Amino acid sequence: MAGETEKKKIIFSGVQPSGNLTLGNYLGALKNWSILQDEYNCFYCVVDMHAITVKQEPASLRRRTLETLAVYIASGIDPEKVTLFVQSHVSAHAELAWVLNCSTMFGELSRMTQFKDKSAKNESNINAGLFTYPVLMAADILLYQTDLVPVGADQKQHIEIARDIAERFNNTYSPTFVIPEPYIGKTGMRIMSLTEPDKKMSKSDENANSYILILDDKDTIIKKFKRAVTDSNTVVRYENGGGIANLLNIYCSCTGKTIEEAEKEFEGKGYGDFKLAVGEVCADSLEPVRQKFDELIKDTAYLESILKSGAEKASRQAYKTLDKVYRKVGFYKLPR
Ligand code: TRP
Repeated sequence: MAGETEKKKIIFSGVQPSGNLTLGNYLGALKNWSILQDEYNCFYCVVDMHAITVKQEPASLRRRTLETLAVYIASGIDPEKVTLFVQSHVSAHAELAWVLNCSTMFGELSRMTQFKDKSAKNESNINAGLFTYPVLMAADILLYQTDLVPVGADQKQHIEIARDIAERFNNTYSPTFVIPEPYIGKTGMRIMSLTEPDKKMSKSDENANSYILILDDKDTIIKKFKRAVTDSNTVVRYENGGGIANLLNIYCSCTGKTIEEAEKEFEGKGYGDFKLAVGEVCADSLEPVRQKFDELIKDTAYLESILKSGAEKASRQAYKTLDKVYRKVGFYKLPR
């Protein structure tokens, strides 16, 4: 019956340790990641090499790398089931990125919308890493022969370029990489800013009231939701769009209720009551995560042991792919 045990599909995803993670990261990514861990062979990475494409304070980058790992685990990601590691611990990422740079065109990188946005925001630091960011991301994905990449809608263009690079390499040499697909999960919705609901909720926003941090305490969460922008209507309906639709999404994501159920529940109630209720359910969902985080972050030895075995597991797969790539492009290999 051995033939019946189908090989699990491979999933890869990553988050940058460049700031404190938000409710958007939790509902849009992390919660989804932990649902996927039983069905797939998952690699979840802390992408510190991507983070330095914008200026980072070295000490806080170092601290946040471990904090990001602790948030992953506190959110329900099980280190026994998935491979958790730090990008810079597996040097194959940098090595494959170089080779893939030579299969990527200047023109296609110039068209990336995230590069255009980020260079507009960081005019004084438009470095080459910011430009080749998508190539490193392609290397992340392709090293593991990834089938599916769970990402938010803003990252779809990066998956497309990874596919283009992989196809080009496969055509130039011979089939080497699995062509990855984006995976937009059920709970993988976009959580928007609380103060400007047409913008994505972002940890790098200057206005701290625009986002909820996973580690915010209950009072802070309730306060921020009280200040959330709604609109000039008075009934809680999804079709009002903007701030209200976003709050409904958050409410339903935290409670598992449908939009219709939530609308019914708040019939005849005002925005004030509704915002308070959203704050409550949000604080309730984040509370266990925060508690677990507080425990984990004290245990550096445990976190480091996970990163150590994660890097070993990831390396095994990564160097298998890198070896193949080096052979195909014609790098001379010495006998062992
Ligand atoms: N660019 C992604 C982001 O900012 C992070 C990332 C880096 C990533 N490498 C990845 C996501 C590989 C998925 C797969 O959100």
